[in-house]
Amino acid sequence: MKILITGASGLLGINLALEAMQEHEVIGLDRGKLKSAPFRVLKGDLLHGNGVDSVLNSTQPDWLINCAALANLEECEQHPDQARILNTDVPGELASACAKRGIHFVHISTDEVIDGENSDFYTEEDEPSPLGVYSMTKLDGERAVQEVDPEAIVARVNFYGWSLSGKRSLGEFFVNNLSAGKDVNGFTNVIFCPMLVNHTARLILEMLKKKLCGLYHVLGAQAMSKYQFGVEVARAFGLRESLISPQSVEMSGLTAHRSHNLWLSTNKLSTDLGHELPEFSTGLGEFYTQYQQGYPQKIRGYQQ
Ligand SMILES: NC(=O)c1ccc[n+]([C@@H]2O[C@H](COP(=O)([O-])OP(=O)(O)OC[C@H]3O[C@@H](n4cnc5c(N)ncnc54)[C@H](OP(=O)(O)O)[C@@H]3O)[C@@H](O)[C@H]2O)c1
Repeated sequence: MKILITGASGLLGINLALEAMQEHEVIGLDRGKLKSAPFRVLKGDLLHGNGVDSVLNSTQPDWLINCAALANLEECEQHPDQARILNTDVPGELASACAKRGIHFVHISTDEVIDGENSDFYTEEDEPSPLGVYSMTKLDGERAVQEVDPEAIVARVNFYGWSLSGKRSLGEFFVNNLSAGKDVNGFTNVIFCPMLVNHTARLILEMLKKKLCGLYHVLGAQAMSKYQFGVEVARAFGLRESLISPQSVEMSGLTAHRSHNLWLSTNKLSTDLGHELPEFSTGLGEFYTQYQQGYPQKIRGYQQ
């Protein structure tokens, strides 16, 4: 298959491109951060230039996976107009163009669309109730996509892994700081379902192969606090977990509202794929193996 990946320089985009190119032809859309990536890179800005149609006309993909977003919660609060264009309007335009051309479209959404008030997990059937600009614009993006392209996959994700900047993911945050002997805080009152980004990427490709469509939770099957995640990372990497102080997110100084319970059920996905999702410990083990094998340096080497 020929796959177009928008946001190819992002944490998900770059790892997805590297996973996908093992079996498919990959074209990454990038604003200019990537150099010497091992897949074809097309320069383009989704907010400017000739727009979605010209990108699709020149690339003619079979599948399009939209990993581009304004994904920083604090930046979304500061630039709500930009967040709306990138997280809502652009996904709708991409979905509409894909529907017209028969391109199977995947839109990446977020676990943050729920308010986290439930005491247990959320399913795809639960009504979302976003708390901030990021989550509101992402939920509107899901709806814009589904309205024009019911065949599209909308994937609510949460992942960690190695990024181009070396500091995009929570996993990198703990590894970088603990390796440097620095004290950090870990939130005890934010529960989430982290998945190694390479597992997220492989699952998305499998979903496309199986021609799935609709809304799915594509994240880790095990829920834990961000503090617990830090402790697990420290143990896997042989770093000092005592450097991590348990703290409430309210004490962090972050301004964007965050859901406290991001425990999303993955039952629908595992049922439709016909197998269990990878265990958290398997992902963390692979995260450490990648570290030992120089994968973080390889990824950072693709940066301009
Ligand atoms: N990280 C997580 O755990 C997490 C959790 C929930 C949901 N998600 C969702 O997963 C998706 C990918 O997230 P990520 O963590 O990989 O984000 P990221 O690392 O911030 O990457 C975002 C990508 O979007 C690109 N982009 C931004 N503005 C653009 C524009 N105007 N035109 C073209 N490309 C543009 C960025 O390009 P530049 O590099 O040039 O800025 C970058 O490649 C997003 O939809 C996000 O909402 C992520």
